[in-house]
Parts: sequence; structure tokens; C-alpha cells
Amino acid sequence: MRYFLLFFLVGCCFSEESINNHRFPSDFIFAAATSAYQVEGAWNEDGKSPSLWDTTIHNNASFIEDLSNADIACDSYHKIKEDVAILKTLGVSHYRFSLSWTRILPNGIGKVNEAGVAYYKNLIKELKDNGIEPFVTIFHWDLPQILFDMGGVINPSFVDWHAEFARECFRLFGDDVKLWATFNEPQQVCTGGYGYGYFPPAIKSEVQLEYVCVYHVLKAHAKSWHIYDDEFRSKQNGRVSLALDTSAFIPATESAADLEAADRMLHFMLGIYANAIYVGDYPEVVKTRVAARSAAEGRNQSRLPELTQSEIDYIRGTHDFFGLNVYSATVAAAMDDPPVSDPPNKWGEQGVNTYQPTDWEETSIDGTKVVPWTVQSLLIWIKDNYNNPGIIITENGYPSKGDKDDRRVHYIRGYLSNIRDVMIDHGVKVLGYTVWSLMDNFEWASGYTQKFGLFEVDFNSPNRTRTIRPSGEFYKKVTETRCLVD
Ligand code: NOJ
Repeated sequence: MRYFLLFFLVGCCFSEESINNHRFPSDFIFAAATSAYQVEGAWNEDGKSPSLWDTTIHNNASFIEDLSNADIACDSYHKIKEDVAILKTLGVSHYRFSLSWTRILPNGIGKVNEAGVAYYKNLIKELKDNGIEPFVTIFHWDLPQILFDMGGVINPSFVDWHAEFARECFRLFGDDVKLWATFNEPQQVCTGGYGYGYFPPAIKSEVQLEYVCVYHVLKAHAKSWHIYDDEFRSKQNGRVSLALDTSAFIPATESAADLEAADRMLHFMLGIYANAIYVGDYPEVVKTRVAARSAAEGRNQSRLPELTQSEIDYIRGTHDFFGLNVYSATVAAAMDDPPVSDPPNKWGEQGVNTYQPTDWEETSIDGTKVVPWTVQSLLIWIKDNYNNPGIIITENGYPSKGDKDDRRVHYIRGYLSNIRDVMIDHGVKVLGYTVWSLMDNFEWASGYTQKFGLFEVDFNSPNRTRTIRPSGEFYKKVTETRCLVD
């Protein structure tokens, strides 16, 4: 009997080969995620003004692979009950969603749009009535067009605009929201919008503006966090951080040079934000390399805007957890620095050869390979570099063309198993895991061609009918048993 009990406490069941069979802690967060622009639709209803994404697509349909748009998307603006019902089916403890800035503040700043607020109040109420906690992202890329017209993230005033929006969000919803992300994947805003230009406003600034964007994002995040800390925390008692994205980087060999190359990639992709927030200032390797290359280009100062000591102190410590979006991995190999190019680009800045082996299982998105084991080294790197923070995986998910849902199960189970391993074997504090996505939705420049949903959405039906996939059934079982094997 004693042995039976012991077995029950440490392991929940017979293990499948290499799948962790330990239960997740009882307070572990199991969540599913969406974002406003990708699911809500109702792009111009009830006083909402256009975002940069609305206008970009309306002006240039070919920006989107299938020439679609997000005017209706999943129609979530009209489907609060349906959305909460499917979340309830999954048994998740949290729903991660974002607030549409232009629904709440149609002028970007200033007057609040009560109808927009009512939508989120109703959603939050419905969630809480069903025992699901809201986990709210303040800014998930849908910048008000009106603010973009004044320079958007490149205008130093962006710091105050974001902070004012954040203050409104805390004031309006903070009594009921205990988990906040000030930003989702700022790297995609800065690198996608101003580096490589694959997202609106699609400016290829060859690094210069991309770094200005990083600088403003860091200050905006910090200001919003401080507003929460100073004005709301004592009453609302929530946690505020942001969701950063990176690939895992695997050194090509165990040579010191390749190990350093993988480390450098992480500092450029993740550390440029995370180091400033969790340690203080940009990573040394980023500062040194960008300064050296800027000098070689004949400039008298680094293209990376310097953080003053008071800015470093203001940004350092502005976190209550570590939000991580991770989908895949990349191999990093040392290489000779490319020649200083004019104009410069971020690739040259890093000076690392990156690739994905051909035997890594593919998904429908180039670059998103199925390599769940790689999350272990990434999580250990975060633990070691950022003083062992509590980590919430704020996104992880499998894209397909609507097929291969069994591989989605394989992917999610693989990630969860490796996460559980690293919690047990290396003491990494993982507090939660979020599947991207609750349902198929508008996948940015890919339109509706890429599907991530635990629920399939029929975009041809006026109802946007949601149907659970086997991966949804699988996740439901995980949330019920807190275990990955039968
Ligand atoms: C990153 C983003 O946060 C989300 O909006 C996007 O749809 C997924 N990952 C999948 O690409």
C-alpha cells in the first residue's frame, strides 16, 4: 500500500518512452492564447478606430498571402459566450488575450470609448463566472493608426502613449486581472516593422530604426510597470511583465567558438530586451559589437541608442515573471564576421551562421521545426542569465495547413514533457504554459493559410463555427490530469 501511494504521489501513471510522467504542480497555469486583432473582427464597430494593421491591409491587400483581412476574423467581438465555452471545455486556468488599443482609446490617447470597454468587461466577467482567469496583453501589435501617423514607436512620445494606455487598462480592468503583459513579442514590432520589414510599417531601416524601436519599447515597458507598481499594485495585487520571443539556439559543435555563437544569438534576440529588464543595460556583447561595427562604418557613435545610468536603473527590475514565447530552434555556428556593410544589417551585427538541419521535422511554416527537446537548454539559459525568474511560457504552438493535428499533439506533449523535465532536473521555475492558439485565426501576413488552433474555425460559415480538434481533446486531458501520459 505504501508503495502504491508513493507511486501515486511521484508519478501519475506508466510512462511512454521519454515522456515525463510526473504531474504538474497544482498551481501550474495551463492557458490558451489569442490576440485582439487576430480574432475579434468588428474592425470599425462601436467607435473603434483603425490600427496600423487595418489600414495597411485595406490599402494593400497583397501584403497578406491569401489577400484576406481581419475585418471579421473569428468574430470574437460578437462571441464572448462561445469563446468562453470552448475555453471551459479545455479546462484551462487562464485565457491569454490582448486589448485592442483603438477599441479602448480611438484617438490613441485621451477619451475612453465606453462600448469598447464594455466588450472587455463582459469578456472578463464571463471568464471569471466560469472559473477562468484573464491574462491580458496590453499591446499585441495593433498600434493605433493615428499614433503611427505621428511616428509610432519611433517617436519618443511612444513611451508616454503606451504608458497612458497601460494606466487606463489597469484602472479599467485591474480589479479583475492579475496577470499582465505590457508587450507581446516586441522583437516582431521592431525587427519585423523596422529591420527586415516583413510587418507594417514594413520599413527596411537596416538596423538603425530597429534599435530606436527597442530603446522606446524598453522605456515604455518600464514606465507602464512603474505605473502599476506605484498606483495599482497595493490594491490590485497582480503581476506585470512582458512576453519576449526567441528561438532556442543550439551550438553546432561543442567548440568554444560555437558555444559562444549560440550564446551571442540569444543575447541579440532575447537579451537585448531581457538583459535590460532582468539584469540592467543591454548585454555587453551586443553593446560591444554594435559599437565596434558602427565605428568601422565611420560613425562617431553606436547605432544602438545608449541607455543612461538613470534609464538603466529605471528599467532594471521591471518584471514580476518572465514571459517566453518559443516555437522552435536554430543551430548556431561561429563564422568570421562579415565585412562591414553599408548599410549595415542585423545579420552582420551578430556574425553567426544559423541554420536548421534537414532531418528536423517540418511544419507548414519555414523555420518552425518540431524540436521540443531544445526548450531545455533555452530555459536553463534563462535561469542562469536572469537569476532564476519564474517563467510563464506565454506561447507555444504548432502550425499546419489544417491537417497533421496528430503532429500538433506530438509537439505540445513534447514541449510539456521537456518543460517538466527541466523543472525537475534543473530547478527551472516554470509557472505556466500557454498554447498558441485557442482557435484558428488571422495569422498576420499569412492570413488564414496557417492554422494553430486547438479548435478549428470554419471561416466560410457566417457563424465562424468552432470545432474541437483531437489536439484540443488532448490538452483537455492534460489540464484534467496534470499529466502527459495515460
Ligand atoms: C507569435 C505571436 O505572438 C502571435 O500573434 C502569432 O500568431 C504566433 N506567434 C504564431 O506565429
